[in-house]
Amino acid sequence: MERLYLDHAATTPVATEVLEAMLPYLETRFGNPSSVHSFGRETREAVENARNLVAGALEAKPEEIFFTSGGTESDVLALRGAAPACRGKGNRIITSSVEHHAVLETCLALDTEGFDVTVLPVDEHGTVRLEDFQPAVSDKTILVSLMHANNEVGTIQPVREIAVLAHRYGILAHTDAVQSFGKIPVSVKELGVDLLSISGHKIYGPKGIGALFIKEGTPFEPVFQGGGQEQRRRPGTENVPGIVGLGVAAALVSAGVEKEMERLRRLRHRLVGDLEERIAGIRFNGHPTLCLPGTVHFSVDGVAGNQLLEELDRQGIAVSCGAACTAGQAKPSYVLAAMGLEENLAVNSVRVSMGRGTTTQDVDRLTEALAATVPRLRV
Ligand SMILES: Cc1ncc(COP(=O)(O)O)c(C=O)c1O
Repeated sequence: MERLYLDHAATTPVATEVLEAMLPYLETRFGNPSSVHSFGRETREAVENARNLVAGALEAKPEEIFFTSGGTESDVLALRGAAPACRGKGNRIITSSVEHHAVLETCLALDTEGFDVTVLPVDEHGTVRLEDFQPAVSDKTILVSLMHANNEVGTIQPVREIAVLAHRYGILAHTDAVQSFGKIPVSVKELGVDLLSISGHKIYGPKGIGALFIKEGTPFEPVFQGGGQEQRRRPGTENVPGIVGLGVAAALVSAGVEKEMERLRRLRHRLVGDLEERIAGIRFNGHPTLCLPGTVHFSVDGVAGNQLLEELDRQGIAVSCGAACTAGQAKPSYVLAAMGLEENLAVNSVRVSMGRGTTTQDVDRLTEALAATVPRLRV
């Protein structure tokens, strides 16, 4: 049985070009980029080349890109680096109820450390309303963190608009672009943010590598102390193969983003249309248009999401029943709860996330599998 992977929001396979670019840095080019000899110089050059590629993909300056161990670290570093640096002005932070755990839990921790965190609600599509932002602002507000696209339902947030409002009050704006980067155009200039997080393994790069964009002049206190790497903001010997891989992956996805976005949109349209026609009691979650092109999130009346996932898995099809559903557990996600989805529908939900390798045949195979499986599981 040929397996079908439809969980690209969880992680992606490493692109061949990425792997090929990385291999020499796992074999012969092993020097420490801080070494002054030729071994060090060749890896330093590779790191700076990758920095240029990531900066180019995000429309940032190379010196504004800081390599990290992934999306989680980028988020934590953004919040824990910027918030204490603005302590002189105030202690209030604004975020949303649908952020990734990396942001939400860091905010919760900061709240116990003398910061005051306001969590904005979302509407039924999972979108933060601009009119909820302004009342949450006070002269003590220093930072807002709003994700670009949601990892569960794919809804795209009004980050640009929030950043404009934030700057009006002298508030720093961070966005977690881990899910959006590579799937829709992401430019720090367009979004107007001060801090932005990305991760390698969501864009056909390796796991355990990411980057944080920190706009020039942004107040920032290092979280880790150590060596002088990454302008002292993220010390530690660089993960050279990972960085090289991230650079190539970032360049690849950003070069092809418009075309791939259109292709995935067509596949999404086909999948949603066919499922609507073939499966009674299906409802789609997330914003119908302002959403990631490859993500389809739905609930099916009378069928638990984890059961559906297990049954599809038996048929060789990999989907997800939430952000990263814990095996065998059907717990309604906090994102769906924040969107006001009733608990029974929230546990009956499945996320399909398509990617570079997904074809029309794959989408049709999923539709057929669901059409055959749902009535069987429905009680
Ligand atoms: C929106 C979002 N932020 C952050 C992360 C964490 O990224 P990483 O797995 O690289 O730590 C993820 C990963 O699922 C994500 O979807």
